[in-house]
Amino acid sequence: MSVTSTPTVTAAEQIAAIEAHAAHNYHPLEVVIERGEGVWVTDVDGERYLDCLAAYSAVNLGHGHPELLRVAHEQLDRLTLTSRAFHHDKMAAFVTELAALTRKDMVVPMNTGAEAVETAIKVARKHAHDVRGIAVPEIIVAAGNFHGRTTTIVSFSDDPVARDGFGPFTPGFVTVPFGDAEAIAAAITENTAAVMIEPIQGEAGVNVPPEGYLTRVREITADSGVLFIADEVQSGFARTGDTFAVDHEGVRPDLIVMGKALGGGIVPVSAVAGDVDVLGVLTPGTHGSTFGGNPLAAAVATAVVRLMATGEFQERSRTLGERLHAGLAALLGDGVTAIRGRGLWAGIDIDPALGTARDVAMKLKDRGILAKDTHVHTLRLAPPLVITAEQVDWLVEQLTLALADLRG
Ligand SMILES: Cc1ncc(COP(=O)(O)O)c(C=O)c1O
Repeated sequence: MSVTSTPTVTAAEQIAAIEAHAAHNYHPLEVVIERGEGVWVTDVDGERYLDCLAAYSAVNLGHGHPELLRVAHEQLDRLTLTSRAFHHDKMAAFVTELAALTRKDMVVPMNTGAEAVETAIKVARKHAHDVRGIAVPEIIVAAGNFHGRTTTIVSFSDDPVARDGFGPFTPGFVTVPFGDAEAIAAAITENTAAVMIEPIQGEAGVNVPPEGYLTRVREITADSGVLFIADEVQSGFARTGDTFAVDHEGVRPDLIVMGKALGGGIVPVSAVAGDVDVLGVLTPGTHGSTFGGNPLAAAVATAVVRLMATGEFQERSRTLGERLHAGLAALLGDGVTAIRGRGLWAGIDIDPALGTARDVAMKLKDRGILAKDTHVHTLRLAPPLVITAEQVDWLVEQLTLALADLRG
């Protein structure tokens, strides 16, 4: 057997092997994907599906974007890893262009979203200690947050499934309701280092805060000298119709946390962007990652940043997102109790009388669409931004029929 051959063949056999030998920390739909191209994925039985999850927005630019593949292939043949002990020739463009895209002085390259969130937390705490002289810094977070899975991050999750049994927890976090800027103002004390929020809460069900919230959070944090950290891991890179979700209100946080789509769906790439007065607290040895900013990641991510700079994906997400939301609106009251979102991103609450969101996802799968439930009754749609208008219409049509299927 060569190292690349798969020991099992049928989808059922592969799923059984995965069940037996991969820990059960996910509950995937019963599909084994073999190929991806643009908005489409194909399973081992040759069935084709419209990918409406896009790996939780990591595949915003579509599967196998030709330019990203070209850059990745080229880089694979040249140089893939040096560690940060040495400079490599893909780093300068990556950090310069990502800093320019975020309109910040500099970036910290990491790999996963959770690592970037951890980085932002460490930077906020270090800044509080070193610059503001706070002995026990606190970070204000929002109820319903999802920032990843590390021990510190689940310490301030209010999702019992994510949290229970993983204590003891990291102290230093204060939770306020999402979307209520005055609650943040009331929670700020002399020990507050930062406010960290998702500008739109993805995992919570694509919760969009009231208009003006981000602006007010910026004002409140600026007035009290507290850092504003925006976790754009899921909302960033054109998902909402702007490069970043904070752009919708023209707000500039102190730290922008990025991940997922920055790696073009090819490699894990994350980063935190900030100005030198904040990120300058990091000095040699205080933080790092063997793989962070590696040549392959840097080459692919630079290509992603260049594609973002064209504005094409933001425009697609804006106009096709309007089309998607206009189509979805017709479902309200008809098996659907609420729809939220911005751009090509939607959280759709399924009427419990009809079934769960997973029931809908399974019906959609039978109709050639892959989507994912979150929190039992919410179906999340986040197709690759290369989706066409016809495909958006087809998606809405199939969702309408899937809901009808459940009605029986
Ligand atoms: C807003 C947000 N932050 C952080 C993360 C964690 O990213 P990762 O799974 O790459 O660690 C996620 C993942 O869904 C996320 O949605």
